[in-house]
Amino acid sequence: MSRVAHPAGPRHADVLPADYPPAPPADLNALHPAIWPRSAVRRDGVLTLGAVDVRDLAGEFGTPVFVTDEDDVRGRCQEYMEAFGGDATGAQVYYAAKAFCSRAVLRWVADEGLGVDVCTGGELEVALTAGIDPAKITLHGNNKLPAELARAVAAGIGHVVLDSYEEIARLAYYAEQAGVRPRVLVRVTTGVEAHTHEFMATAHDDQKFGFSLASGAADEAVRRVLALPALEFAGLHSHIGSQIFDTAGFEVAAHRVVDLAARIATEHGVDVSELDLGGGFGIAYTPEDDPPDVKSLAAGLQAIVTAQCAAFGLPLPRLTIEPGRGIVGPSTVTLYEVGTIKDVDGIRTYVSVDGGMSDNIRTALYDASYTCALASRSSAAPPMLTRIVGRHCESGDIVVRHCYLPSDLAPGDLLAVAATGAYCWSLASNYNHLPRPGVVAVRDGSAREIVRRETVADLLRLDVG
Ligand SMILES: Cc1ncc(COP(=O)(O)O)c(C=O)c1O
Repeated sequence: MSRVAHPAGPRHADVLPADYPPAPPADLNALHPAIWPRSAVRRDGVLTLGAVDVRDLAGEFGTPVFVTDEDDVRGRCQEYMEAFGGDATGAQVYYAAKAFCSRAVLRWVADEGLGVDVCTGGELEVALTAGIDPAKITLHGNNKLPAELARAVAAGIGHVVLDSYEEIARLAYYAEQAGVRPRVLVRVTTGVEAHTHEFMATAHDDQKFGFSLASGAADEAVRRVLALPALEFAGLHSHIGSQIFDTAGFEVAAHRVVDLAARIATEHGVDVSELDLGGGFGIAYTPEDDPPDVKSLAAGLQAIVTAQCAAFGLPLPRLTIEPGRGIVGPSTVTLYEVGTIKDVDGIRTYVSVDGGMSDNIRTALYDASYTCALASRSSAAPPMLTRIVGRHCESGDIVVRHCYLPSDLAPGDLLAVAATGAYCWSLASNYNHLPRPGVVAVRDGSAREIVRRETVADLLRLDVG
């Protein structure tokens, strides 16, 4: 995945990469098991999800539509719980709701034993109204509004992750008013930033989240928390990035955080009883992506924390992680209907679908890669190099940059884009006044809408001028 920032304005197809065109896959109808939801199979050539035919889903719920395999989400929750839940520290897994936040999904993850991590008052209300036990909710955010802090305190949520000096004082005020003592974690900026296949361990203090270790701000934040009897200091938090494929970055971050824990023990005689290493565990979007399985990830992180604590002579804290993408990302596909097919001679074929950057901004925002397949039928036609584009007034409105599809593709065919469960619906917009798609959960041959498709009437209701 390239992370090169692109200049303002369209510059999407004018420079062809040296390895262009990419090689076509051996079988256009194949569904790579690491990329597609676990229930995805072709029956008589047609993609089915949760044993439901995608043509029926499109007919009943319209397109574009996000289709979520409930058993896939639950299965991944179970794997995280088994991998992380069984260690001596009583490690805990919190689902990062920012990846996709709906009541149904929060209930599934809670059923499987996970806590829920929210980062705004809105996400907090979804969790509370879904019936999530407040004690198993953690509140994040670099600028939690005073009303959000007051609500979190009143609801009795389990942890607040503190992100600024102002917030330490504000939370203590609301806790005193309510006569409660919230457990807090201090978010530490370790200077480590990690993404797929690489990590950098310098120069990333220049960001809005957390208290810098390098500047001493993290030590000072802990001092201030410990000086306030209204707050219960539980431990430290560190989140180093996203779509991470190895544990090297976590090792450097854990080393630095445990070093701080040692200073806290020396200066204050206080143990850090909880260590939250955040989320960021990678998933496969294309066949080239090869994320580690959750078991080896857990073993790696637990070994790192154990070794670092032993090196500093500290008791083992309770380890917490906060996966978002790793829980919901692979569970979901977006179904689109093909509208137009335009051959741009000698370069590629542009396939326009009925959604676009308003339901998946990740390609435009991060140059993300996706896998796409013809879903409503299989085909033996030869491969055709396509670019899947949306229907917005932007030439950067690209859903899938390079994708081989059968050359007999026709308007009305359904396309499925895989691994759209994380950061697609949650980043969706109404750009060009497109209503946001619904989200449909499938399981054992039945389908139900868990987030209703928006209508133009919904949008007009907000326009009160
Ligand atoms: C503090 C924190 N925790 C957890 C996550 C979840 O990350 P991911 O979905 O990559 O696992 C994020 C994502 O930005 C985050 O900022």
